[in-house]
Amino acid sequence: MMEKARWDELARAAATRPSIASLFDADNDRATKFSASMGDMLFDYSKTQLSESSLGLLLDMARDVDLAGKRAAMFAGAPINETEGRAVLHTALRAPESAKPVQLSAAEFGEVHKTRARMAAFATSVRNGSFVGQGGKITDVINIGIGGSDLGPAMAVLALAPYHDGPRTHFVSNIDGADIAEVMAALDPATTLVIVASKTFTTIETMTNAATAFEWIKTKVANPAAQFAALSTSEEKTSAFGIAAERVFGFEDWVGGRYSMWGPIGLSLMLAVGPENFDAFLQGGHEMDRHFAETDFSENLPVLLALVGVWHNQGCGHATRAVLPYDNRLSRLPAYLQQLEMESNGKSVAMDGSSLEVASGPVVWGEPGTNGQHAFYQLIHQGTRVVPCEFMVAKEGHEPELAHHHALLVANCLAQSEALMVGRSLDEARAIMAAKGLEGSELERQARHRVFSGNRPSTTLVYPKLAPYVLGQIIALYEHRVFVEGVMLGINSYDQWGVELGKELATALSPILAGEQSDAGKDGSTRMLLGYLRG
Ligand code: F6P
Repeated sequence: MMEKARWDELARAAATRPSIASLFDADNDRATKFSASMGDMLFDYSKTQLSESSLGLLLDMARDVDLAGKRAAMFAGAPINETEGRAVLHTALRAPESAKPVQLSAAEFGEVHKTRARMAAFATSVRNGSFVGQGGKITDVINIGIGGSDLGPAMAVLALAPYHDGPRTHFVSNIDGADIAEVMAALDPATTLVIVASKTFTTIETMTNAATAFEWIKTKVANPAAQFAALSTSEEKTSAFGIAAERVFGFEDWVGGRYSMWGPIGLSLMLAVGPENFDAFLQGGHEMDRHFAETDFSENLPVLLALVGVWHNQGCGHATRAVLPYDNRLSRLPAYLQQLEMESNGKSVAMDGSSLEVASGPVVWGEPGTNGQHAFYQLIHQGTRVVPCEFMVAKEGHEPELAHHHALLVANCLAQSEALMVGRSLDEARAIMAAKGLEGSELERQARHRVFSGNRPSTTLVYPKLAPYVLGQIIALYEHRVFVEGVMLGINSYDQWGVELGKELATALSPILAGEQSDAGKDGSTRMLLGYLRG
């Protein structure tokens, strides 16, 4: 556990932090010093108020909590998910055969590769038409899953759209019948493959949607189960559903739901882009693992991204962070990161059962640029709260014929981080108003609305092009960032008890809503709402 004195030291450093501008004025080499790269990927964190001494403090704090030892324990397969007694080995899903985690048996590691080979064979058979539905070649795939069984593949399928050459891929997650109804309305059951993606195979949303999809497939297909595949840790439950073992792709409980897209949960992605592109995605993730495992903290992208996060949240008290990809195909990345980061680090109890002495992980939100600029950037630039921004942008787009669009996209991305840092003084605003012909009190009044405080922190991640390998790097970067932030806080990033209470109460409310049970004992508000909704 981090000593309280260390957190106090961080708070003191944050309280006396210099402005970003003064840090640049004092050091011509700041951009180089406060940036790091992995291959072609560059992470610039110079537009923050981190000084050499505050960064040094954060690096010392990482050493104090034995980040290196904990990192080694995770990669080795030690049961670091202590509240569930499990290892955390999603990294094994993307590791080549030569990189077996020390504590994982050869048989279990072998199983990972066998399953991947089975997935590839199945994906190939669907893609080339040797696996057929009752109506012939599979034209559409519906992935039914929620949370980690939806957000990762849905985000990645969209991100890698230029690589699609497989069946069309659709995602259904919500218990709201509107979700599945709209997908079913557009498809032919006789040429649709349904993937039921659920680690536990008990999640009410997924099982309800799977049952609805089964009935829908049955309207046109004599043996509906033949057009189903399952991705789960529970073979017992998948076979009870009626899905043949050859189309069940299993994984172990050492893969957390929100970390699972690298294995069977990624089947929809593999079907869309093909096994080779999926392999490149895994390779990018694995290379980031190696970078994280082997690089000095001071040059280590996940460590630095995490330390910047700790600085802004626990140090400076900025409770949210915005993820702003200037890459339209990453439009689901913020939603994906919301689960990854907030389900992992949104906790107030440390691993040892004590209460956290500092804030838990931040609220993560965002939208792609440039759309966000015309929506919420007003608050980011002139609101009373500071929102650290994480920009990301590719050097090159996928549309060479539209290179002028990409140039504008990049210019906008850079302009936003510059504007946040530089701002506009009252004198500058006055000069602008004077040039427009205003004077006196009206000039003064108008000028004040045009002041930008500046000194607002941001980081920028740049990469060559949003290819499968690069997407793998980005996702693994964020996964390890979550790990590092969790270690700094002393929490278990790999359980999610906070989602359970609501599930239990929903189960208890269903019979009350149906009029089968009395609402006695419920609070006044819930009783009133039940009364309205029951009609
Ligand atoms: O409710 C939270 C959660 O357990 C997530 O952690 C998980 O990703 C999601 O539900 C779906 O779970 P499953 O894959 O078991 O259906």
